[in-house]
Amino acid sequence: MVTTVGTSTDMASLIENFILLEHDAIAAYDATIERLSNPEYKAQIAEFRNDHLRHLDDLTQLAARYGANVPTEGDMKEILTTGKIKLANLTGDDAVILQAMSSNETDTITAYSNGCENSVVPPEERMIFERGLADERRHKEWMDRAASM
Ligand SMILES: [Fe+2]
Repeated sequence: MVTTVGTSTDMASLIENFILLEHDAIAAYDATIERLSNPEYKAQIAEFRNDHLRHLDDLTQLAARYGANVPTEGDMKEILTTGKIKLANLTGDDAVILQAMSSNETDTITAYSNGCENSVVPPEERMIFERGLADERRHKEWMDRAASM
């Protein structure tokens, strides 16, 4: 499923959708950390998870400025995280789990790219989305590399 996060035509709903996406992403990171066997992989994924907590902080501050709702959990609508990770769990293989997680990163990369290109985002707020995009690209690169080793 291609995510529509980042394509909203008003700032408040754009922020709310990003907050939902970040909650879903964090839930997927939790599931991944739980299922990986390699302790170095677990530590790296936990570090990436911290980036997502930072995104959530940034977005929550934005939400206050734009009067956006701040959902306290995800809705699993925009990202098929649970399903993908559950599938990966069938084999219990780290590489398969990381590949499933990498496909979630594809969605977050798309969402942050959308945010960067969306003219509804004022130029002074663009930095948050650019930083998010750089983080997501870095996460995916590492996952793809680790999954192919
Ligand atoms: Fe990520």
